[in-house]
Amino acid sequence: MELREIYEKGKKALLAKKSGIFLGGVETEFVLANNRKIMEHYTLRQRAIDSASEPSTEVEILGVNLRTPVIMSAITAPIPDITHNGLMDVARGLKEAGSIMWTGSPIPANLKEIKMTGVPLAANVKPYADRNKMYRALDDIQKTGIDWVGVEIDSGQGTKILDREMVSDCAPLSFSELKDIRKAVARPLIFKGVLSEEDAAKAFDAGADGIIISNHGAHTIDYLHQPIPPVTVAVSYPPFHRFLAVVELVLFYVKIFTSIYFIN
Ligand SMILES: Cc1cc2nc3c(=O)[nH]c(=O)nc-3n(C[C@H](O)[C@H](O)[C@H](O)COP(=O)(O)O)c2cc1C
Repeated sequence: MELREIYEKGKKALLAKKSGIFLGGVETEFVLANNRKIMEHYTLRQRAIDSASEPSTEVEILGVNLRTPVIMSAITAPIPDITHNGLMDVARGLKEAGSIMWTGSPIPANLKEIKMTGVPLAANVKPYADRNKMYRALDDIQKTGIDWVGVEIDSGQGTKILDREMVSDCAPLSFSELKDIRKAVARPLIFKGVLSEEDAAKAFDAGADGIIISNHGAHTIDYLHQPIPPVTVAVSYPPFHRFLAVVELVLFYVKIFTSIYFIN
């Protein structure tokens, strides 16, 4: 089956289920239209001469080895509506591709089973207004052996498709709450939904290991900008990372100096 056919088949199955999740953007859908418009400005730059004959796309990110460095967007619903055991199918497919799986809401009850397929796994938690519920979810997902923990900082005001509220039981997180979340998470912690330099700096200052620069695919606030070009992050590193950065810089200059010395 070709990719186009797989897409059409999935779309048909999803529409037949009438799950109500099928895409669409918040309110005026400006964000969706603008995403498309901005993306159309980008093309690939070709360098055919001396190009790699055996390219390796392998990369290690936060302790996870990826053969395919394309990371799944955090999504649960409506995957189970697409095939009978959709989440397990996605897990096996991503494992085969050498990628990582990332679940969203609802948090799948079978995270452990998904993890047992051997796929690297990240799971998101929403900033539920009931913070006890949020911390319980953070505890629960960590017990399943997932690789990364994600927190959707951009779902604080809830999510919407057109004028229909999809999520309404969340509340915005403060900087001090981000620091508390850091203390409660032993795994690599990623704050998803950063879209400004201010939030990026706060996320890292609170101890995040990574951020996902995203406008949530047009499901949060209308008239958000597109994440490309990415935000420039003026990060104040925690002391240890600052120390490592200084060591790296010194080694870099030592390397340059020695290569100049030997060339001469
Ligand atoms: C059907 C659907 C469900 C989604 N559910 C979630 C979710 O539960 N949690 C989450 O953080 N993001 C969710 N998203 C947003 C995606 O993770 C992602 O942010 C979006 O597709 C845009 O991609 P980008 O973040 O790479 O720009 C969902 C998106 C779609 C289309």
